[in-house]
Amino acid sequence: MIQVNENFIKLPGNYLFSSVAQKVNAFKTAHPEAALIRLGIGDVTRPLPPAAIKAMHHAVDEMASADTFHGYGPEQGYDFLIQAILAHDYQPRGIELRPTEVFVSDGAKSDTGNFGDILGTGNKVAVTDPVYPVYIDSNVMAGRAGDLKANGQWSHLTYLPCTAENHFVPSLPTEPVDMIYLCYPNNPTGTTLTKAELQKWVEYALEHKALILYDAAYEAYIHEADVPHSIYEIEGARSCAVEFRSFSKTAGFTGVRCGYTVVPEEVKAMTTSGEEVALNHLWNRRQCTKFNGTSYITQRGAEAIYTPEGQAEIKETIEYYMENARLMREGLQGAGFTLYGGVNAPYIWVKAPEGLDSWSFFDMLLHEVNVVGTPGVGFGPSGEGFLRLTAFGNREDCQEAMSRIKNWAGR
Ligand code: MLT
Repeated sequence: MIQVNENFIKLPGNYLFSSVAQKVNAFKTAHPEAALIRLGIGDVTRPLPPAAIKAMHHAVDEMASADTFHGYGPEQGYDFLIQAILAHDYQPRGIELRPTEVFVSDGAKSDTGNFGDILGTGNKVAVTDPVYPVYIDSNVMAGRAGDLKANGQWSHLTYLPCTAENHFVPSLPTEPVDMIYLCYPNNPTGTTLTKAELQKWVEYALEHKALILYDAAYEAYIHEADVPHSIYEIEGARSCAVEFRSFSKTAGFTGVRCGYTVVPEEVKAMTTSGEEVALNHLWNRRQCTKFNGTSYITQRGAEAIYTPEGQAEIKETIEYYMENARLMREGLQGAGFTLYGGVNAPYIWVKAPEGLDSWSFFDMLLHEVNVVGTPGVGFGPSGEGFLRLTAFGNREDCQEAMSRIKNWAGR
């Protein structure tokens, strides 16, 4: 009989957000009358920017005529979108990238999950803790993580705790590592690194010939100065970092699917015989084999967010969510909670009341106030005792959730 990839068997039964959804659905079935407010999964609720809708309608019309029809596109993305990305996301920050260094995709989840395909399975992986579960689960699948220990850690991974005590700033690893996943603004804690803090990571990676896999999916939410928008703002990063970006949270594309990954020519890895290979070429090879490109219609929609109208529209939506975050921070603080994030990110990291662990806090909020969060421990052992709330809900829901939580806390 054929054999399975045993690494998949090692994974917990469900992906975090599926486990949460199962619990919520069971509750909903048992209590169909409950007015649930979902602030769990980081999914947007505002509609797409009108500029993107208009561009996508136009692209659909183009598909209706043989003269303007588009079949397979370039696996790396259409030049019109790549040029818009370079001109708006990088050049204004003094970052010069070659068009061939940008790979358009169906989102940062796929790219962060798939990038390991081109890296050796013997590499030592470091993750911040708590962490976006895709980085860990995809490394479990590849066989880099070892076995799950009783303390919730994987035996071969290096965990970099991010806790209130270290202000959610991870320390450099004390053991040698090859692949380092950093996500800033951070999912799930909503915290950021300063340029000086990120510089230390770039220096570490250069010195140890490690690779930083930098997930900047929440970049559009940065409001404070001195928070880097791209790792390439840091000198030397072109030689040691790849960067993942997404239109999901920036422009409401969670259901449309579009993102991109930057792989500078200078980023190299080694073969077992000591030969240096450019990751850009390997990623291109991987994408050409396993991916047929993001749809033309989607890429026209993404291009439109870089027009002046598109930019104004996404700004308005981002401000809407950040006003939610402000109201939620204020509401939770007023109710006596300790919380972090929500200033440069749409996530709020709430400390559970004394004596409650993440899942008990999650269950209590679900059952007693019908508000859904995501248990912090689901993002890693250092997330224990926390709960993540997202600011992606609609305004009325966020206000209602805060008022329910306030009443509950004062009970
Ligand atoms: C989350 O809730 O963390 C998001 O849904 C992550 C994602 O974009 O996949």
